[in-house]
Amino acid sequence: MSTIDLQALIPNNVDLADNRQLQRALEKWQPAFLNWWNEMGPSDFKANDVYLRTAVGVDASGWASYGYTPMPEYRWGIFLADREENRKIGFGDFMGQDVWQDVPGEYRSTFRRLIVTQGDTEPASVEQQRLLGHTAPSLYDLRNLFQVNVEEGRHLWAMVYLLHAHFGRDGREEAEELLERHSGDVNKPRILGTFNEPMDNWLSFFMFTYFTDRDGKFQLKSFAESAFDPLARTTRFMLTEEAHHMFVGETGVGRVIRRTLEVMKELDTDDVATLRKAGVIDLPTVQRYMNYWFSDSLDLFGSESSSNAANYFSNGIKGRPDEARFADHVESGTEMTIQVPDGQGGLRSETVSVRNGLNEVTRLEYVKDCNIGVTRWNMAIKRAGIDFELKLPSTRFRREVGMWAGVPTTPEGTPISQAEFDARKAQWLPSEADQAFVKSLMQRVTEPGKMAAWIAPPDRGINAQPVEYEYVKL
Ligand SMILES: [Fe+2]
Ligand SMILES: [Fe+2]
Repeated sequence: MSTIDLQALIPNNVDLADNRQLQRALEKWQPAFLNWWNEMGPSDFKANDVYLRTAVGVDASGWASYGYTPMPEYRWGIFLADREENRKIGFGDFMGQDVWQDVPGEYRSTFRRLIVTQGDTEPASVEQQRLLGHTAPSLYDLRNLFQVNVEEGRHLWAMVYLLHAHFGRDGREEAEELLERHSGDVNKPRILGTFNEPMDNWLSFFMFTYFTDRDGKFQLKSFAESAFDPLARTTRFMLTEEAHHMFVGETGVGRVIRRTLEVMKELDTDDVATLRKAGVIDLPTVQRYMNYWFSDSLDLFGSESSSNAANYFSNGIKGRPDEARFADHVESGTEMTIQVPDGQGGLRSETVSVRNGLNEVTRLEYVKDCNIGVTRWNMAIKRAGIDFELKLPSTRFRREVGMWAGVPTTPEGTPISQAEFDARKAQWLPSEADQAFVKSLMQRVTEPGKMAAWIAPPDRGINAQPVEYEYVKL
């Protein structure tokens, strides 16, 4: 097993000290990263001790060490999952051949673009969330936000390492640009739309970590299959960190729901105005936020039928998430059916090759994964004896990318006219009034163990600490 050099300026398990040129280049990028963190990372809280976990090893058990650290002193480093001896390419046209330790020249620009796009999302989310610390509903939540933020920072390091180590001068330039684009910047926005959306409330933060970080999980899972072994090893380790982000999302939304259910029972009502007056988020509003963030995240998988997706798969660049679970790893000449708009207000089936349809395959796996949490939330609602069911909208709803882009549909996926969509929009997506209400609840709570009135406490604390633990020393 590899060991992490924790004493190095840049903690790493890639023997950075043996490659002076690469080490120097990354040590030059490091102050630029810290500058970015100070300017664009969490606003304030720089001097505060935060109870954070830091990677100290890459094996599945016990890689994390917990302790108080001010965020700017977090040990961001370069950690790859251990190398698997004799690893073979597991899919596509090169199936069964040795994996690559270097990028083949003909796929260089493709890999570079994919790594840059993935890398761009990591600091983007930190930028989107930079003001949330001021309205954290508890110290426990504040700590979780900061944990997610420092880890997204580390994910940027992960991608920058690949750019520096394998893409020469182009890679170094891309690494600099990753710090120059900013979320929501009119002149230099982040690459993907979702990562330019402002985030001014914690309900959106929980939805984002549940739905959008989960898109990240699926992208990473696809990269974890890559024939380019350093990319596969990097993303495998990132996945272990990513799991916490989705935990924050699932339990966050779950706690919002639990608190609402308590008040619904207490007041014996499902009247939205009454519940809002009591300071909790009514379930239809939770549903609308879910519709928004879920549909937004669906677009990140790309078009239903895509020759790029086919090329990535054929050439071993990106596999399917958990490729081993699929029966056929080559998909030569196999076909699948997708639903497309018929142009007359209805839908029709179209047959595409599986290779062309891989974005859709991955998207559907993602939807299944999203439904696991929704089922748990619904169980809590049912247990409380409340007659309400949360439901993910159709993958056709509110799409801006792919076959369904700009085709108005109901949440069930039935095509409708634009006029009908506009008329009913406020039932389906957060209205201005919903947003103003949710925002009005965002008040900072700083006493250890105390929660804002709109959210229930977590079942347990972090790393076996009590919920009342002082997770951030203010
Ligand atoms: Fe990430
Ligand atoms: Fe994440």
